Amino acid sequence: MKTAIITGASSGLGRELARQIEDVFPDIACYWLIARREDRLESLAISLPGRHTTCLALDLCDPMSFVSLKDRLAEEKPEVSLLVNCAGCGYLGRVGEMDTASQTRMVDLNVRALTAVTNLVLPYMPEGGHILNVSSIASFCPNPRMTVYSSTKAYVSHFTVGLNEELRRRKVSVTAVCPGPMATEFLPLAGITGRSSTFEFLPYCDQVRVAGGALRAAKAGRTIYTPKLLYKFYRLLAKLTPSQLLVKFVKT
Ligand SMILES: NC(=O)c1ccc[n+]([C@@H]2O[C@H](COP(=O)([O-])OP(=O)(O)OC[C@H]3O[C@@H](n4cnc5c(N)ncnc54)[C@H](OP(=O)(O)O)[C@@H]3O)[C@@H](O)[C@H]2O)c1
Repeated sequence: MKTAIITGASSGLGRELARQIEDVFPDIACYWLIARREDRLESLAISLPGRHTTCLALDLCDPMSFVSLKDRLAEEKPEVSLLVNCAGCGYLGRVGEMDTASQTRMVDLNVRALTAVTNLVLPYMPEGGHILNVSSIASFCPNPRMTVYSSTKAYVSHFTVGLNEELRRRKVSVTAVCPGPMATEFLPLAGITGRSSTFEFLPYCDQVRVAGGALRAAKAGRTIYTPKLLYKFYRLLAKLTPSQLLVKFVKT
């Protein structure tokens, strides 16, 4: 049975992606939903009738979660047609001024867990499979006051481009979606709400539209998908401008 594995499915963009998979990939009947909050995963599973759902309550910052996932994969041997790496976190604050645990949590979740989950799942992905990684417009240029977060997302976008090339022969595509700000739990958790004038004037992306566009981009085999014209333009600008110059104008 064709399976989708979605990390960060308990809220925000990940939950929306899980809800919309059926519209874009109707042949996927089985979903593995991953996040820490099991009650949220179970309510999502109930709202997805007609699909086989497995809720895996895993803390992806804990390396033991990789062992649990590895064992579960070995036990069930799913045919994974779609992997969505959406679990992520970000915190506003300067390096040297924020607690070390928050700084390293961004690296653990956005970089280490995304890499580990992809590495564990790939042996179960046949020809024609798709991987969708959630990056950010923060990946285009380092963002002072979110230097660690923007660096982790630069990794996600780089990883996507490299892996897409590596997997070309296997006919597996890898896509990174790079949204601008979205009104999800991310912003208050990041300590951004009310503390960043940039986030007050930037246009917001609607996570429902981002999810649909990202799934269609993954199906079409696009490598980088940036929702909203303004942010497409920003991506182009960041490609054409030296980052040492642009970084002076992208303060959070
Ligand atoms: N919102 C924005 O402005 C924005 C903009 C660009 C990109 N993004 C990216 O979009 C992705 C989704 O974020 P969102 O906006 O939807 O925020 P969100 O609602 O806070 O979602 C984050 C998801 O990650 C999961 N997660 C967090 N820590 C985890 C851990 N240790 N182990 C397992 N799962 C964990 C959360 O579930 P649990 O808490 O239940 O574990 C939740 O499902 C992230 O990668 C984020 O970087 C967000």
